[in-house]
Amino acid sequence: MRAVVCDRLSDPPGDPSVLKVEERPIPQPGPADVLIKVGAASVNFPDILMLSAGYQHKPELPFIPGMEGAGTVTAVGAGVTTWRTGDKLIFGVRPGAMAQYVRVAASGNLMRLPEGWSFAEGSAFRVGATTAYHSLIHRAQLKRGNVLLVHGASGGVGMAAVQLGRHLGARVIATGGDDARLAVVKANGADDVVNYRTADFVTIVKELTEGRGADVIYDPVGGEVLERSIRAAAYGARLLVVGFTSGGPSKIMSNHVLIKGLSILGVRAGETIRRHSPELGNDYVEELPRLAGLGVMRPHISHRFPMERAADAFRALIDRKVVGKAVIEMPT
Ligand SMILES: NC(=O)c1ccc[n+]([C@@H]2O[C@H](COP(=O)([O-])OP(=O)(O)OC[C@H]3O[C@@H](n4cnc5c(N)ncnc54)[C@H](OP(=O)(O)O)[C@@H]3O)[C@@H](O)[C@H]2O)c1
Repeated sequence: MRAVVCDRLSDPPGDPSVLKVEERPIPQPGPADVLIKVGAASVNFPDILMLSAGYQHKPELPFIPGMEGAGTVTAVGAGVTTWRTGDKLIFGVRPGAMAQYVRVAASGNLMRLPEGWSFAEGSAFRVGATTAYHSLIHRAQLKRGNVLLVHGASGGVGMAAVQLGRHLGARVIATGGDDARLAVVKANGADDVVNYRTADFVTIVKELTEGRGADVIYDPVGGEVLERSIRAAAYGARLLVVGFTSGGPSKIMSNHVLIKGLSILGVRAGETIRRHSPELGNDYVEELPRLAGLGVMRPHISHRFPMERAADAFRALIDRKVVGKAVIEMPT
């Protein structure tokens, strides 16, 4: 099979020219596995970090990148009763999605591709949807009528939070650095959008909420964005620490946390599924497919690349050209 391969670390970080496309053996499914012919895999920010061992999970070299994809089951292990050859599935792996075939544990991160969805859409669902779901429902317990402030809203996990927040009945205010990409965010459910390059999001959130501030703040950006978000937070707000695309963590003043009665909530969607399955895992097994079936968090895909141009897909994300997701489509 053909596969995208990373066999040396990117130095300096963030250089996808380390990626090659190579011939690799098709993996053999064990008794509890399924073998999937991959239709498409999507790019997530952690895929970029993994190229330079800059992510918390550091796969051994050489590795095939890609945390999520969608495709068709072509073989099942002798002990598998849940899936059949021909099933079209969405899958998560750690990593390995950017190849023509992938082996996945049948009890693992799999769900049926919703009716009418392309493989590209399916490949772009899982990471954003699990992160938004875990953040807004398990961690922040977002309620109908809450004001939800979403940073990095034109990105993969940001856009999913906008869509889910809207579905749950929150008033969604979304930030980003580009008007054209923010127009897509608005079309995907944001009530208001703020371009932080031309306006101060703290002032706008205060204006839009008559001085009260946001009840829930979802932050995949980090750095001073979260620090400044405290000024846009309502009394008793929940602040979700989702990621650090700005390059680093935030320094939060504990006196501000006390005065405003804030809750700072760390989000680790994947780790929570691993540690707390089946209790929380069942939510992902039953509730996420239900939401997807309703069309909630259906991914917006701005960029598609053939496998041979995988490095360009990474570059589009690095250059902040993507709105929603970039996907890599596999040769048939
Ligand atoms: N906690 C979890 O369980 C979990 C799960 C998945 C991902 N994550 C994290 O969530 C973050 C976002 O991931 P993603 O896949 O959604 O990324 P993405 O698609 O690249 O989106 C990131 C967004 O961040 C904004 N941004 C601000 N400063 C940036 C910078 N210096 N470089 C790049 N983007 C910047 C960009 O919007 P503008 O250009 O409009 O500013 C961009 O749309 C990452 O840190 C990732 O590790 C966390």
